[in-house]
Amino acid sequence: MPTILKIQGGKPLKGTIEISGAKNSALPLMVACLLTDKPLTLSNVPNLADIQTITQVLNVLGVTAQENGSTRILDASNITSTTAPYELVKTMRASVLVLGPLVARFGHAKVSLPGGCALGARAVDVHLEGLRAMGATCDLDEGYIVARAPNGLRGAHFTMRVVSVGATENLMLAASIAKGQTILQNAAREPEIIDLANCLNAMGATVQGAGTDTITIEGVSTLNGANVKVMPDRLETGSYAIASLITGGDVTLTNTSLKYLPMVRETLEKAGAIFEEKDNGFRVYRNGPIGGVDVMTEPYPGFATDLQAPFMALMSVCEGASMITETIFENRFMHVPELVRMGASIQVHGASAMIRGAKSLSGAPVMATDIRAGIGMVVAALAAKGTTTISRLYHLDRGYENLEAKLQACGADVERHKVDV
Ligand code: EPZ
Repeated sequence: MPTILKIQGGKPLKGTIEISGAKNSALPLMVACLLTDKPLTLSNVPNLADIQTITQVLNVLGVTAQENGSTRILDASNITSTTAPYELVKTMRASVLVLGPLVARFGHAKVSLPGGCALGARAVDVHLEGLRAMGATCDLDEGYIVARAPNGLRGAHFTMRVVSVGATENLMLAASIAKGQTILQNAAREPEIIDLANCLNAMGATVQGAGTDTITIEGVSTLNGANVKVMPDRLETGSYAIASLITGGDVTLTNTSLKYLPMVRETLEKAGAIFEEKDNGFRVYRNGPIGGVDVMTEPYPGFATDLQAPFMALMSVCEGASMITETIFENRFMHVPELVRMGASIQVHGASAMIRGAKSLSGAPVMATDIRAGIGMVVAALAAKGTTTISRLYHLDRGYENLEAKLQACGADVERHKVDV
């Protein structure tokens, strides 16, 4: 039976929210287990639908996964298949990350082509170009990418056509056990890339330069197991910081750090946010109204596309106006019509949205169209007058652990209900 979130808006969030481990780091770290026949132990893994999906993908390949709270012990000593099926890959594009490690360790891999998603076409051509540069053949067969490198992968000097988080990760994973040196240029610089490099290095790899646009990997013949803690979720952090601001609340976020959100912090400060850093996190609140600020999404360290929807919700009730330009995904304004249903004044022209701040939003039935559009709805609903119901919660459950409990602990009136279709 489907579920909805029912949010009675207008209550300032006050209290403390503990931030979970980062979904977008946990996914590639879990995939890294494929590179070794020794167990890889990961802690601070969030309990999310996407984590269950990647676990299922790994299980299909023969990986055993033990779960103990937020710890996962992954053992890829007995791989029985190198095929990642369509049924799983179509539900989560990040499944394509198994391609590089499988072909690097076993010389072959068959992974369903992810196809379209809510954010647009989202190709994987850069992943394939990189693997080809490392000596693999990559062909398309009945909807599957079939990659072969019977004599193993060899290091390569590869410049990415576009900055891609997933391609950078796939190629780092593959290069860590390729023969010789790989240099990845125009690499993504997200903190999750640094987390992956640290994990690979803990497993015995030699990865340097993660966090810059040039990553150098000296391939090694085998990797070991390791014990690694997943970094905090910077997107969950940013989402709750915005929720605190839109409700005029005062929230302390723990188990996280502002260092992962340089441009988001700067932008929110321009809009009127006050941040106070603490040992294990930070406090975020405001003393006056929120002002309009223009934003363009960009690869890290720019403003994260994944926080564009909640930021637009915030701008919907700012004093003045704001222009938000989306440069990463062609289809990431699906939340606009939903915000408009709540009374927001937004006009989209191509990749830009012009938002004129309204005095307030009003509750309405709306839907989550992807993970981050979903949190945009939650943020808007927390500040709106009246009741908002949000459907298609499976999107939110992919990326936000214990969402209602975390918000309720700060005084929000949020409930999950089962509904008849
Ligand atoms: C990662 O997706 C994140 N997912 C996304 O988070 C995030 O929105 C995105 O990076 C951008 O920051 C995970 O980390 C699991 P990309 P990814 O490859 O790696 C184009 C969330 O809500 N491109 O950096 O798939 C692509 O079409 C999710 O948690 C190519 O053209 O994104 C896009 O326009 C949603 N060819 C741009 O690059 C390729 O081969 C950036 O995509 C690969 C990408």
